[in-house]
Amino acid sequence: METIKKCLFPAAGYGTRFLPVTKSMPKEMLPLVNKPLIQYGVEEAMAAGMSEVAIVTGRGKRAIEDHFDISYELEHQIAGTSKEGFLKDIRYIMDNCTFSYTRQIEMKGLGHAILTGETLIGHEPFAVVLADDYCVTEGDGVLAQMVALYKEHRCSIVAIEEVPRDETFKYGVIDGEEISEGLYRVNNMVEKPDPEVAPSNLAIIGRYILTPDIFDIIRDTPPGRNGEVQITDALMTQAKSGGVLAYKFKGRRFDCGSIEGFMDASNYNYEHIYKKR
Ligand code: G1P
Repeated sequence: METIKKCLFPAAGYGTRFLPVTKSMPKEMLPLVNKPLIQYGVEEAMAAGMSEVAIVTGRGKRAIEDHFDISYELEHQIAGTSKEGFLKDIRYIMDNCTFSYTRQIEMKGLGHAILTGETLIGHEPFAVVLADDYCVTEGDGVLAQMVALYKEHRCSIVAIEEVPRDETFKYGVIDGEEISEGLYRVNNMVEKPDPEVAPSNLAIIGRYILTPDIFDIIRDTPPGRNGEVQITDALMTQAKSGGVLAYKFKGRRFDCGSIEGFMDASNYNYEHIYKKR
């Protein structure tokens, strides 16, 4: 049976909300305690059975490539010392995943970033992780929960959560028919609607499973909200033709694209992960 092996990470954005730290450092490399955001995303993908990591980068993002590579000098220096233990998780990733990169030359929206990744994905279903949505769960990770659903339904799936009504303008928002507990067949999807016109308070968070026909659909999708090519608009087209599911995942999300969410996630990981090592 076809499984999902590839996970795409759009990582070309500027991270302006974190300036000046993001002036010369990718926002995906901001650490929650001692691990960069993108590494948590890669670990979530691995836990869902994926081993091919595809990253859409841009100018100034080289630190991401170096992170998922050997640092000979450093490794030579600490070989045989207790400090080697700090590299255990990243070594496990490097031993079990392949990494491929392509650059997004111009920032034309998330839909455009995903289309830029087509060259790395080819014609197979794949996952997308927006690393600044950091998710913690008690059991399976969010992607693992979604892969289980994909095996059953074989269509594109977006992760959703309820947000306060007055925050719909920050998200893609869906409306749909609940076909089983927490699982919706999407019949409407709007990118960043004002609260008065939002179809619901069910917001898309940065986890997607996409079937590869999405690439042709994105190519035909005109720029939408903010003049950008939106994955939300492309998914709406797919929802009309083939069907798209929205899944209220089990777990908690931190919006690490905002300073407040990032600090909450840092404190959470310090208390719940770092101190309990
Ligand atoms: C993107 C998507 C949006 C989604 C959000 C999740 O927006 O366009 O539909 O709800 O990610 O984090 P961004 O936060 O990049 O503006």
